[in-house]
Amino acid sequence: MANKLRISFYSVCLLSSVALNIYFATTPYFGKKQKPIISWTLKAAAEAEAVASTSCSGHGKAYLDGLIVNGNPICECNNCYGGSDCSVFATDCAADADSGNPLFLEPFWMQHASTSAVLLSGWHRMSYASNDKFEVSPELVNNIHKVHAIARNAITKGKYIVFGGGSTQLLGAAVYALSMNLSSPASVVAASPAYPLYKSQTDYFQNMHFEFKGDALTLNNSSDNLENVIEFVTSPNNPDGNLRRAVAQGKSVKAIYDHAYYWPHFTAIPSPANEDVMVFTISKLTGHAGSRFGWALVKDEVVYQRMKTYISLSEFSISREAQMRAQQLLEAILEGNGKEIFDFGYEKMRNRWEKLSQTIALSNHFTLQEIPNQYCNFFEKVRGPSPAYAWLKCEREEDINCNAVLKAGKIIGRNGSLFDSKDRYVRLSLLMRDDDFDFLLGRLNVLVGNEDGAKTI
Ligand SMILES: Cc1ncc(COP(=O)(O)O)c(C=O)c1O
Ligand SMILES: *[C@@H]1O[C@H](CO)[C@@H](O)[C@H](O)[C@H]1NC(C)=O
Ligand SMILES: *[C@@H]1O[C@H](CO)[C@@H](O)[C@H](O)[C@H]1NC(C)=O
Ligand SMILES: *[C@@H]1O[C@H](CO)[C@@H](O)[C@H](O)[C@H]1NC(C)=O
Ligand SMILES: *[C@@H]1O[C@H](CO)[C@@H](O)[C@H](O)[C@H]1NC(C)=O
Repeated sequence: MANKLRISFYSVCLLSSVALNIYFATTPYFGKKQKPIISWTLKAAAEAEAVASTSCSGHGKAYLDGLIVNGNPICECNNCYGGSDCSVFATDCAADADSGNPLFLEPFWMQHASTSAVLLSGWHRMSYASNDKFEVSPELVNNIHKVHAIARNAITKGKYIVFGGGSTQLLGAAVYALSMNLSSPASVVAASPAYPLYKSQTDYFQNMHFEFKGDALTLNNSSDNLENVIEFVTSPNNPDGNLRRAVAQGKSVKAIYDHAYYWPHFTAIPSPANEDVMVFTISKLTGHAGSRFGWALVKDEVVYQRMKTYISLSEFSISREAQMRAQQLLEAILEGNGKEIFDFGYEKMRNRWEKLSQTIALSNHFTLQEIPNQYCNFFEKVRGPSPAYAWLKCEREEDINCNAVLKAGKIIGRNGSLFDSKDRYVRLSLLMRDDDFDFLLGRLNVLVGNEDGAKTI
């Protein structure tokens, strides 16, 4: 009896294992019909979920790679919160609108926890790119094409794609590529107000091929025969959110289009961009600035090859972990109709801009940049502004240092002079978490409310 039972037990096992083998041999492992077998990923999955569920009072987070004390992950608290569980609010702390950390998208990813998570084996793609079958992940390339097609913000057909460690690395690579073998050193310019990195990076890496020459308009006005000019064109612009075209004109003027913010979250998309050199980044698309992944779309093969040479001489190739992360995030975006992140991003940024505009409209001391309503190729309608930053101007004659005025009201912004402009301007980031935005708005309301003769509705 016992023997018979054992035999039939074994045959059931054998049968089911044959069935399983057939199932796994014929079904892609991500097939959705049957529960997959989970073994060596269990520990990693349990650890990831345990750390993510650490309670930090809703005002902080614990991370797998954060500090561990006595076996417990430590909460990293949001701005103005402290204590071991981030429950202590520092009432007099300043509202920090300085950095461009794109945390406004954090809730989107918490709502998409299961589609965005990545788990890697210990032996995942150990080779240098040169030994690897795929130097760049082909699925990531596909997803990049798809996400541009859905956002309708760039024409990718017929373009070469270069991956970079953030768009920061690709901006440098593009300057190198466009300035090789010129008759005289290239003048690198950007129209004021400009993102500071163009100057700092070009100055730092200056060599016999190129040199930073400041404001694009000033250079354009200085000569009607510009030669060997490379212009950074940031569209929409950081800090003021306006869409831009190159201002330098002349033979052998080349442009590097920095489209970090050319997504429906931040701007109307009048038409798909189709420039010779365009740089994009997940930093402001998905909000994963810490992953350091960007891509360039390049029309000309020689420029593409030179940019690839730059990447390969500086670091062989882009981290496969960063590529895997980007691939999964884009995969998560593309689920469903692929429009959800743009609706989320636009609603959030639009709502913030409206609230901020209402507050500043009551002020006699401050004004905001103007951004026109425009037709959007993505939403297929005219839409209002939803910029990533406020470019605040202090209007009173004596307020030549606008950031100092804000600082007195416990608000931290970024000095206008950093953007090749005047300190009468301050950049305020609008990309932070809800908590921090509400806090900023509260401080601004107080500042405006305390003005002599502030307007009322
Ligand atoms: C205009 C612009 N370009 C590039 C970057 C850098 O992006 P990445 O994180 O891809 O290096 C930023 C970041 O704030 C930016 O504002
Ligand atoms: C630059 O010119 C030199 C000499 O003509 C040539 O050997 C080199 O390949 C060129 N470099 C690029 C990147 O075109
Ligand atoms: C450039 O020239 C235009 C037209 O002459 C003028 O309006 C503008 O102020 C000049 N800009 C700079 C930065 O020199
Ligand atoms: C740049 O200079 C050209 C010719 O010198 C001029 O026609 C053009 O209007 C200038 N561009 C801007 C934006 O001022
Ligand atoms: C910005 O301006 C403030 C006030 O003048 C000054 O204290 C600070 O050093 C400036 N910051 C930078 C980064 O230039």
